[in-house]
Amino acid sequence: MSANEANRKRMLGIVGSPRRGGNTEILVDEVLRGAEEAGALVEKVILSELDIAPCRACDTCRKTGQCAQRDDMPALLEKMERSQAWVLGTPVYWWGPTAQFKAFLDRWYGSNYAMFKGRRIILTIPLEDTDASTARHTVGMFTDALAYLKAELFATVLAPGVLDRGQVREHPDVLEAARRAGRAAIEK
Ligand SMILES: Cc1cc2nc3c(=O)[nH]c(=O)nc-3n(C[C@H](O)[C@H](O)[C@H](O)COP(=O)(O)O)c2cc1C
Repeated sequence: MSANEANRKRMLGIVGSPRRGGNTEILVDEVLRGAEEAGALVEKVILSELDIAPCRACDTCRKTGQCAQRDDMPALLEKMERSQAWVLGTPVYWWGPTAQFKAFLDRWYGSNYAMFKGRRIILTIPLEDTDASTARHTVGMFTDALAYLKAELFATVLAPGVLDRGQVREHPDVLEAARRAGRAAIEK
């Protein structure tokens, strides 16, 4: 790593939709684009392409400090640790996050909670309903979980009224809000 790279802030994008090129990924990409414009190094992961098993509540992590499962989660936690800011994206599935996102979130249980403290987080959440309040449980879940972990919920970008793959591109105002949030998260 060059000295220049070591000094630059990093933002990690975590996509919780299984649909590649879908609304969630587009929104995450916009946030990352804004972060890059502000000078950050950016990286993106697609949860559905990683092997992340659900928590088994065996409490091995509590006893040994390490999860009993051997999958991609430790490598992802390392990426998270390296990035000062994260953009977390999930569409609304039945008023909540996707199964892939929830499995990932449940695995935070076995992680070092100190890692979350002060971490700057942007949420991106598309949904079919034109009423944004349909995202309230998903937003509420993040708000409470991130407050518990003392992370900073920096911005939330909701995209109501988008159903089909890529439909969010018809909403340049939402794309611009995502890009602006990414830029601000690095600049401020
Ligand atoms: C299994 C499933 C459940 C869904 N549940 C909801 C829902 O409860 N409320 C809603 O507004 N949209 C719901 N949607 C629509 C998605 O939130 C919407 O299509 C979103 O734009 C998908 O994002 P993506 O393109 O990143 O996959 C659901 C879609 C799927 C596939």
